[in-house]
Amino acid sequence: MRLNAYLARAGVASRRGADELIKAGRVLVNGQPGQLNTFVAARDRVEVDGKPVAKQKLAHLLLFKPAGVVTTASDPQGRRTVVELVPGEPRVVPVGRLDADTTGALLLTNDGQLAHRLAHPRYEVEKVYEAELEREPTDEAMRKLAEGIELEDGRTAPAKACRLGPKLIELSIHEGRKHQVKLMCGAVGCPVTRLHRSRYAGLDLSGLEPGKWRALSVGEVEELRRLSGRSEG
Ligand code: URA
Repeated sequence: MRLNAYLARAGVASRRGADELIKAGRVLVNGQPGQLNTFVAARDRVEVDGKPVAKQKLAHLLLFKPAGVVTTASDPQGRRTVVELVPGEPRVVPVGRLDADTTGALLLTNDGQLAHRLAHPRYEVEKVYEAELEREPTDEAMRKLAEGIELEDGRTAPAKACRLGPKLIELSIHEGRKHQVKLMCGAVGCPVTRLHRSRYAGLDLSGLEPGKWRALSVGEVEELRRLSGRSEG
């Protein structure tokens, strides 16, 4: 998060007050003077006037996102957000996004570095979706979904597509483009009527009811760090 937001959250000053401290050179990040555009993660060492600012405790939560809730930290239209379904302290934000009508596995964290890496296509974190379709897909449609679909922003990467029922498929993808699954299925003539993410980076929803969350175990966080190419704590 931005340095001024970090300082505000730590109770040092308002964001504007924090900007003044930064401009005055009173804030160091890992020993270097902070700038207005400096981004800090919970692991960074921040000092104001030579005194360390208390670090945020890292939190990694898995939420079973219900339908009708938006994946943003605040919604200008006043709709309920995923952030309202988890504890406010320490404050966490969603990694990537699910559409308001999509249900399923959503990770929320204040570990900015990990979140950034998980969301980066380079690390190819697997997302598994169950999509209910308006009609039964042909074999040709299933093949196209697996091989890649030409979307407005380019061709989708190869995916795994299998049938779970006549109008129900499982699609495993590694990208996170906006409305990707709906656009892919729509492009092969099978609009999505219901979308659920059953797994995210190997995490599934067992034991969780819609709207409920759980903290990840230390082992699960380590595995996410490994998947995102970062093994240190
Ligand atoms: N693809 C979509 O179309 N919607 C989602 O919410 C997630 C992936």
